[in-house]
Amino acid sequence: MESVLECEWALALLEWQAELGADEAILDAPVDRYGEGAKAPAVLAAPAVLPATAADADPVAEAQALAAAAPDLDALRAAMAGFPHCALREGARTLVFADGLPGARVLVLGEAPGREEDLVGRPFVGAAGQMLDRMLAAIGLDRAAPDPANAVYITNVLPWRPPQNRDPSPAEISMMRPFVMRHIALAAPQILVLMGNHACDAVLGRRGILRLRGQWAEGLGLPALPMTHPSYLLRTPAAKREAWADLLSLRARLDGR
Ligand code: URA
Repeated sequence: MESVLECEWALALLEWQAELGADEAILDAPVDRYGEGAKAPAVLAAPAVLPATAADADPVAEAQALAAAAPDLDALRAAMAGFPHCALREGARTLVFADGLPGARVLVLGEAPGREEDLVGRPFVGAAGQMLDRMLAAIGLDRAAPDPANAVYITNVLPWRPPQNRDPSPAEISMMRPFVMRHIALAAPQILVLMGNHACDAVLGRRGILRLRGQWAEGLGLPALPMTHPSYLLRTPAAKREAWADLLSLRARLDGR
């Protein structure tokens, strides 16, 4: 760096990239992109014929078969870890499977891991997760509770972090939906809480969370309560009032009222 001005310029560029969400290095070692220009352009030889398995695969059918064959949660996690068709896995550090108690009365379904979840390997551990924990605690629920009555089980529609936390694509949701369905069946909750549009889309086939929230629906044969996502509540504190009403509705349903 030759001058203070260049240094400031480089810093501003970095900050701008961080603002856009490019806040981490994906590769283990740095790549000198300036040096690359000097090299002869690499000719990427495409394979003449794709291997039959990759070319012919129907990712949704394959996900359905793998999910159906999983007899328990450990087997399901292994099946998801071996599922090759969702490109998100390439950019993610970890497969974020679930947290909480299998068999808990309440299953909370979120969207996808964010940065912290990708690092830690558990769902909802960042700022939205802390908000979720506070919301659940307000009605006597706790992901760490040992008894199914007070515990929750938490998972997401997607197990891998989308780059820069972008929205899941419809193709990604369709591809991973069979795993979500099986996950819910194996965790055997009595009530589903669907956090945000993508969870509603995956389970109810419906979107429009601001209309759906607070209205009990049926998903996979279970009572399902759509709620606004904790990240939305962090951005929109005024929506907490309605979320509180939804939590009270959940408590009332749990108490058989
Ligand atoms: N948001 C989600 O939907 N899921 C997580 O695990 C974290 C944030």
